[in-house]
Amino acid sequence: MTDLEARVSELVSQMTLEEKVAQMAGNTPLQGEYGVELWNVPGVERLGVPPFKMSDGPRGVGVGTGRTAFPVAMARAASWNPELERRVGEAMGAELAAIGGNVLLAPAMNNLRHPSWGRSQETYGEDVHLLARMGVAAVQGIQTHVLANPKHFAANSIEDTRFEVNVTVDERSLREIYLAHFRSAVLEGGAASIMSAYNSVNGQFCGENITLLRRILKEEWGFDGFVLSDFVFGTHPDSARNGLDIEMPFPVEFASLLDQVESGALPEEVVDESVTRMVRKKLEYRLDEPPSVDESVIESDEHLAIAREAVTEGAVLLKNVDAALPIDRDSLSRIAVVGALADAVNIGDTGSSSVRPSFVVTPIEGIRDALGESVAIEHIDSDMLDAADLSSLATADAVVVVTGLTEEDEGEAIIGAGDRVDLDLPQEREQLIVDAASVNDRVIVVLEGGGAITMQDWLADPEAVLMVWYPGQMGGHAIADLLFGDLSPSGKLPFTVPKSLDQLPPFDNVSLEVEYGYFHGYRYLDRRGFTPEFPFGFGLGYTSFAVSDLRVSRSQAGAGETVTFSVDVENTGPVAGGEVVQLYVSYPDSEVERAERELKGFAKVVLEPGERRTVRIDIPIDSLAYYDSDRSEWILEALEYMVHGGTSSRDLPLSVTLSVDSEAIAR
Ligand code: BGC
Repeated sequence: MTDLEARVSELVSQMTLEEKVAQMAGNTPLQGEYGVELWNVPGVERLGVPPFKMSDGPRGVGVGTGRTAFPVAMARAASWNPELERRVGEAMGAELAAIGGNVLLAPAMNNLRHPSWGRSQETYGEDVHLLARMGVAAVQGIQTHVLANPKHFAANSIEDTRFEVNVTVDERSLREIYLAHFRSAVLEGGAASIMSAYNSVNGQFCGENITLLRRILKEEWGFDGFVLSDFVFGTHPDSARNGLDIEMPFPVEFASLLDQVESGALPEEVVDESVTRMVRKKLEYRLDEPPSVDESVIESDEHLAIAREAVTEGAVLLKNVDAALPIDRDSLSRIAVVGALADAVNIGDTGSSSVRPSFVVTPIEGIRDALGESVAIEHIDSDMLDAADLSSLATADAVVVVTGLTEEDEGEAIIGAGDRVDLDLPQEREQLIVDAASVNDRVIVVLEGGGAITMQDWLADPEAVLMVWYPGQMGGHAIADLLFGDLSPSGKLPFTVPKSLDQLPPFDNVSLEVEYGYFHGYRYLDRRGFTPEFPFGFGLGYTSFAVSDLRVSRSQAGAGETVTFSVDVENTGPVAGGEVVQLYVSYPDSEVERAERELKGFAKVVLEPGERRTVRIDIPIDSLAYYDSDRSEWILEALEYMVHGGTSSRDLPLSVTLSVDSEAIAR
């Protein structure tokens, strides 16, 4: 036993049953205004065991005001830059530590099974590998200062029925598509805690799901941290027994724990195990010591700079014809900025992930700041254009239409808008784009939102479309950085943008029984042979890149090994910019049903014009395994695997083979 474990068990042995049970539930009263103070979970003062003090969430510290509002997680996923996400996590963790918190209720890492999910913006997209890379980075960053809490475990991808819906999912899909990234967050990221989900999986609520919590998370993965319930409705009669350690934010089911133990209905060992897990993390993370940062880190210049960088790295240029972007400031005399969102604070939904910064730079403010006095800026603060507006737009050098979705269109259920029923923009916003484009041939759409937006009715009209997500408090400045070419966009879509809803699997947020299968997102479209509007991994910039010469460190490998792939990338265009080299694996001759191709590695590189670099990407061979539910093992097939390289899931000009000679059990 290590010294730490010995100290933990000594402390737990000194606690009374009452003291132990009290640590298994929050004791924070529900606030009138949602989430205005840190959620508290008591420790044991007489033994020097500190409480947990928790706050949401995925886009910054939700408690209080004046915290840095980062762009939403989906925006950061689109950066395909885990190193940046690590810094974002570290900044959030520091801000929480500075106000006395020690558990950040983030990252949200549910797989975006369908873009209608109201909380799309809080997660990292539709692909397990990207989810894992960003989730691990967030966890590691956050845990420089406080404990992270990956959520919502598991298969939580519908909002409107989230408290009741039962997700039926076969074992292989569950393992490969809905759990694999959580496994990475635990095993690689070292997540100290996990939040269970509200919904049921295979007939048992996640908050009392013995398969998920005990067998898989705690026993199989060896997770040594603690699990808390999702709030208020996430705990059930068998929760404690089946592996849930803390009921949040106050005891309801767990109010009877003391009686249950005293009457012999619940073994005291169950309580001891939960408390051991919590005390272990309290000691490991030295939660009894004062934080190493003070309040000066909150909304500091450094954090605001990271927030701004996250917007420019994650913005995805979807369309750019006739050199509409970037706009050369020097050749402008009059620019029009149009739309009700141009001067709106639109930084994400009103649910638990809300952050209240002390200021927000709106797009028009950012544009004004970047252009100064030399350019006339016409601001039409409306989604409806009248005849006078149109004739004035007709003579502008460029028209920037700021539009998209808001907290009224998507968000967390009950405290926010919930799921989306269709993926179009609201009708008047589509009309705004079409109208502007009917009078001016340099219309640039700056699009805000947290998930896929279908664009069939208007995409042909404007010259450029730049997806900026919910860009956080520095959004306006970052948008201006991109519009005027100070930086080139380098984001890539973390999900597929379909042409229409019928290119996607069904989304049912009414029934209380739904079934999830193996295929969604690009895997689903690839399988059906559908051509999306924009494929997973797609994004343009102001320069061009050539990728060539995909090679592999060895052409043969086995379980447990890691193979390094190299690709040459050259910036063949006029300005500096970033490109994301993506590697997808396909499985010709596999004995089992596989996706046509799957992302297994990527790397982002920033190059000056004319610069050429060799990018190296590691793929652990075990990540090519599938889950065999009969054997309950990850099986690495003996196959000639094909590895495809390029710059989106549908632009993969390079390929190389990698062979695994004998079948093996992978980990
Ligand atoms: C959400 C969680 C959140 C919690 C506390 C729940 O409703 O699902 O994501 O962390 O509230 O605000």
